Amino acid sequence: MNRREFLILTAAAVAGCSTTAPDPVSPAPKNRLVNAGAVSKYADDGVYARFRNQGFFIIRQGEKLFALSAICTHKKCKLVTEPDRSFSCPCHGSTFDPDGHVAEGPAKRNLPVLETFVDENGDLLVRLSAA
Ligand code: FES
Repeated sequence: MNRREFLILTAAAVAGCSTTAPDPVSPAPKNRLVNAGAVSKYADDGVYARFRNQGFFIIRQGEKLFALSAICTHKKCKLVTEPDRSFSCPCHGSTFDPDGHVAEGPAKRNLPVLETFVDENGDLLVRLSAA
């Protein structure tokens, strides 16, 4: 093998390496607790999207305070909130009502309600579970 052939083979090998698949996204740790801060921060009715990137919304509906998954049940895109407090998926158009029930597919499953606790300091803890 001459120098030219060596360089061509090396370049081909490097090019082959660059077409490898990207690193897979790490799965969310199972049963991780997220401290969402003082319950008093969620006194007003509405959807609190501060934790969307961690995979959930906090919702206050009168006396009810709960956490809904922010991940579409179709193919796991992150949902966005709508002015009427419903949710929509930017990937394929599924919509969910303010309680997380499927309003329009292709998603077929409702959004999971995540387990929540209030700790001794009055903080809301949300348990993330791997879907
Ligand atoms: S991922 Fe949400 S509709 Fe497909």
